[in-house]
Amino acid sequence: MSNIGSYDERIKNFDWSLAEKELDYKDGDTFNIGWYCSDRICEQGKANKLALIWEGLGGVEKRYTFNDVRVRSNTIGHFLKGLGIKNEDRVCLFMDKIPELYIGFLGVLKIGAVAQPLFSAFGDESLHVRLDNAQTTAIITQRKHVGKVRKILDQMPYLKHIIIVDHDGKKELKEREMVFSMDEAAPVEKFEIFPTKAESPSVLHYTSGTTGQPKGVKHVHYSLISQYLTTKWVLDLQDNDIYWCTADPGWVTGTSYGIIGPWSLGITQCVLDTGFGAEPWYKFIEKNKISMWYSAPTAIRSLMKAGDEVVTQHDLSSLRHLASVGEPLNAEAVIWSEKVFGLPFYDTYWQTETGSMMISNYPGMKVKPGSMGKTFPGITGVILDPDTFEEINEPNKPGLIGFKPDWPAMMRMYWRNEETYQKKFKNGWYMSGDRSTIDMDGYYWFVGRDDDVINTGGHLVSPFEVESALLEHEAVAESAVVAKPDDVNMEVVKAFVTLNKGYEASDELELKIMNFIRKKLSPLAMPQEIEYLDTLPKTRSGKIMRRLLHAKEWGEEIGDTSTLEDDAPRMI
Ligand code: WT7
Repeated sequence: MSNIGSYDERIKNFDWSLAEKELDYKDGDTFNIGWYCSDRICEQGKANKLALIWEGLGGVEKRYTFNDVRVRSNTIGHFLKGLGIKNEDRVCLFMDKIPELYIGFLGVLKIGAVAQPLFSAFGDESLHVRLDNAQTTAIITQRKHVGKVRKILDQMPYLKHIIIVDHDGKKELKEREMVFSMDEAAPVEKFEIFPTKAESPSVLHYTSGTTGQPKGVKHVHYSLISQYLTTKWVLDLQDNDIYWCTADPGWVTGTSYGIIGPWSLGITQCVLDTGFGAEPWYKFIEKNKISMWYSAPTAIRSLMKAGDEVVTQHDLSSLRHLASVGEPLNAEAVIWSEKVFGLPFYDTYWQTETGSMMISNYPGMKVKPGSMGKTFPGITGVILDPDTFEEINEPNKPGLIGFKPDWPAMMRMYWRNEETYQKKFKNGWYMSGDRSTIDMDGYYWFVGRDDDVINTGGHLVSPFEVESALLEHEAVAESAVVAKPDDVNMEVVKAFVTLNKGYEASDELELKIMNFIRKKLSPLAMPQEIEYLDTLPKTRSGKIMRRLLHAKEWGEEIGDTSTLEDDAPRMI
């Protein structure tokens, strides 16, 4: 029996107070996600239940019970408090998928501070803009990433503490650096959790837009209400499940459903910190008897590519439910998974801003391969006309997805960017920025994004950020960045550049520029191809027209070019 029972019954008279009741929360009570994900689970008699099964390179394994998670998050909280870190201060978690990241996240929340997880593959520039916007007080990191922090330290007077969790004490510590070992520090059994309220800030995730710097999406502790219920009803996690969310907590899936959702339900989860590979992934499922698996279309397409034979070499009979998020899940991937695993991947749709799933497929509901499913109970979704922002009530007619902004996990603001935040609302609707249709049965079918942001393997990359970074390379005069089609990642980053005098187009220079971006921003943002042009297509007012370059990459009609500079169309 699934947790949701009947979707149709659940949407009738739905009220979020249902989740409040299950979490024993009453209006005005203190509300702390750190407590809900560890102390409360222990109080429910699950102190000795495994919370985390972690595997790193070379098959190294670590295991933590809910009591271990409770005590260690206390210990981290106590240490941070001792440094003078206060509630609402931002504490960045800049680590690989190691246990300290997962447990440290709860430790930060327990002192009422704001957890700011950042993807550990970020380069110094990506790191700097995000720490600068958040005016981050402390960063928890690993030895191998500290070099990137040192590089930008002079520009970050607000950053007071650099905490290294795996320092062997051999190398000298530099300015503001200190060592903390989660497993070796004196355990703090009892800790006074900061009395955060439902609306106290909890998590700050950065997401990329078309223009400007990345936006800091502020969430509050009350988001747990949505995350708890969607985990229960969509991922269908039940007490004896072994769960694996493949997302990195540097991104929202890895916190909402890789920490908060499963642990607030007292579920055992597994983490594999070794990157992607069909063989190691199947082995991991087999070894840990994983029953529920939440992943992403790019991973599924990569598994498809690896073939069916490697599937049959493993016993994957423990799997009972699969779900996916982050980018369009093509029908072929769903059909393939039914063939090889005997189970379809259930698509889910949501965003960093929404904090929890908005549109999903539910256990027991008919899956239409290629569709994102239906809105979660309590979520009001509409398709809006792109010009008038009025509702389109015609089935199968594309428009913009809008949501009534009234669910618990909705972002509360973009950090220090009120103007951009206000622009996300039209006629009282939160504008997702995505286009879709809704069919006769209420199923959503994704059409595309309504901006130039590149979704590569489920990760959003801002063309603006890459273009700006390209301009910092000595050879580059002008740049334009667009998505290019790709079999596995759906989209990859492609850059068009013009060169400064004295530089010549060559393959060697292309590699140099690629590497420059990889180091400065991240491997995700690195262009997979750089094309040299003599000039870039611009409007008469001098704005580079990405649209034309994009159309060329996708073999689409170019459309209206009447605002172009006279000679521009010839270049493409
Ligand atoms: C954007 C949000 C929240 C999970 C991780 C991504 C795209 C997300 C789907 C889906 C088609 C999807 C949208 C959305 N997206 N899920 N099931 N089908 N597209 O969070 O980085 O904020 O990205 O990812 O374009 O707006 P994010």
